[in-house]
Amino acid sequence: MILIERATLQHVEGISDVCSRGYRATYGESHPKSYIERIIEEFYHPDRISSEITDGGDGWDGWHVALEDGTVLGAIGGGMTGAYRGEVFVLYLDPDRRGEGIGTLLLEALTRIQREKGATEQWVSVARGNQKGIPFYEARGFVFQHEQESYSNGEDEPFVSNRYCRGI
Ligand SMILES: CC(C)(COP(=O)(O)OP(=O)(O)OC[C@H]1O[C@@H](n2cnc3c(N)ncnc32)[C@H](O)[C@@H]1OP(=O)(O)O)[C@@H](O)C(=O)NCCC(=O)NCCS
Repeated sequence: MILIERATLQHVEGISDVCSRGYRATYGESHPKSYIERIIEEFYHPDRISSEITDGGDGWDGWHVALEDGTVLGAIGGGMTGAYRGEVFVLYLDPDRRGEGIGTLLLEALTRIQREKGATEQWVSVARGNQKGIPFYEARGFVFQHEQESYSNGEDEPFVSNRYCRGI
């Protein structure tokens, strides 16, 4: 049985693991290895995830995890970016567990929270050409809005993100 729960410190290593492996599996063919490892070191380091669980902060709805027998299979994080606007900041699964509905369960948990906070729309950035992510968001009702240059170190060509939105 798969349970969706708000993450606690006991899930830090599992979140770091699924996000790191999920990120490599998603971008391994399209982005340079050095870039991928830099992003993982910055965003999915256990220390950073720990502080995001304990400190939270405005505009952050906390990490939620999908658990099977206590093992983290997937993780989502999001927050409010405006009075009526929620954002999915991050959503990754164990790459071997895609296509079982786990991503939908995680998205539903975040969406419930954002609705309660007053969100009527929900946004997400997905890298252009990410065929492991875009079909999922489109199946869940997100519609392409516009392109946006995404995070880079300023030396490389910037990567392009697609901004998607749905009503919630
Ligand atoms: C995106 C992701 C979280 C989706 O989770 P998931 O558990 O695999 O998705 P689900 O099983 O809940 O799928 C939900 C729907 O999306 C569709 N879908 C998901 N991935 C798809 C794909 N690659 N191609 C076509 N359809 C897809 C499913 O058919 C399903 O549609 P339905 O409910 O109408 O039948 C997961 O696949 C993942 O980790 N991908 C790689 C990481 C990534 O790209 N994350 C997003 C970065 S912003």
